[in-house]
Amino acid sequence: MPFAHITGWGMHVPEPVLTNDDISKLVDTSDEWIRERTGIRERHIARENEFPSTLGVEAAIKALQIANLAPTELDLIICTSSSPEYIFPATACLIQDQIGATKAGAFDLQAACSGFVFSINMAAQAIRSGSIKSALIVGTEVLSRFVNWKDRNTCILFGDGAGAFVLQASDVPGGVMSAVMHSDGSGANSLIIPGGGARFPASELSIHENKHFIHMDGKEVFRFATRVMGKATLEALEQAKLTIDDIQWIIPHQANIRIVETAAKYLKVPLDKFIVNVDRYGNTSTASIPIATVEAIQKGQLKAGDKAVFVGFGGGLTWGAMVVEWTGPIPITKQVHPEQYRLFARLRSIVRRALRFIEGLFSRWDS
Ligand code: ACO
Repeated sequence: MPFAHITGWGMHVPEPVLTNDDISKLVDTSDEWIRERTGIRERHIARENEFPSTLGVEAAIKALQIANLAPTELDLIICTSSSPEYIFPATACLIQDQIGATKAGAFDLQAACSGFVFSINMAAQAIRSGSIKSALIVGTEVLSRFVNWKDRNTCILFGDGAGAFVLQASDVPGGVMSAVMHSDGSGANSLIIPGGGARFPASELSIHENKHFIHMDGKEVFRFATRVMGKATLEALEQAKLTIDDIQWIIPHQANIRIVETAAKYLKVPLDKFIVNVDRYGNTSTASIPIATVEAIQKGQLKAGDKAVFVGFGGGLTWGAMVVEWTGPIPITKQVHPEQYRLFARLRSIVRRALRFIEGLFSRWDS
């Protein structure tokens, strides 16, 4: 049975930065309150012409460059997002088209902030079963479009950004070693965007009632997160037949520094075993784990041979954790340039649209 290795990684955040002081001009809050209660100092916010697919494509190309894998080699793309571009089609399909992943099947996986852990697990299972050889996982968010900038309980928390991993099959042991996934739909209302779906489709009333914004019971989510983070970590370790002392890093979903501190106490490990960057990005939902991972690699913290736990939690409610042995890119035999496929992808997309239009004309004449 092949092993599923993480062989590529990339992140991309939009340039504009929104500081706590900037937010204090919008709502009654302060830099001090936000830093003390959440650990967040600033977050990145997408420009008007940036979308989940825009950020996701940038992160995906970087991940493919590290993996030295051409987009045309990809078998599967899973995009996970709490702020997808549309209800349908899947954001994964937009990314597939833009990077030129001509043979990949692409779909979205919705598990709120646990989405990245769930998606890696699904891709790893497909690789382990032998049905695919490579997969691209993209977590991408433009949550700023769903934030009520008049609600101080939520607008201080979220940020925009994207992260991506490439997973590849290998006979060398390592890669994804274990994974646990959990859900509790009885907590669905604790963290929800109620409008825009089939229950509350867009209407004057739904807009008037702010149904298209994030609604959150902060205290309840906080209690839930602190309860599940440590437990899920231990469960994933047990499944991998490891203990907390066998791992070098815990890379948690970046929601609130106090949640991480509580998990550190529960697990009886020092806080510096956790990768934390919530101070600079806020909560980027599905993108937070890959963004934290990429930064940990860039800083020389996460190295080949290390074992790490990824642990996520969020709306649903959902939570999950996995143990990964970090192996890094597969040795290069021939250099590929995934970024060069973008122009070809754009041309291909235009040609296919034109062909579909022409096909439509002929089928009209046929009937
Ligand atoms: N600035 C100033 N005061 C504020 C602010 C603010 N931005 N927000 C709330 N307050 C006030 C409240 O009104 C309250 O005042 P009161 O006592 O007069 O009523 C007081 O501060 C305390 O409010 P709490 O809600 O008790 O504050 P708490 O310490 O719980 O912190 C927070 C709130 C930061 C939201 C916290 O509950 C939290 O982090 N929860 C988890 C959120 C989370 O992780 N969400 C994402 C999950 S992942 C996903 O799926 C997207």
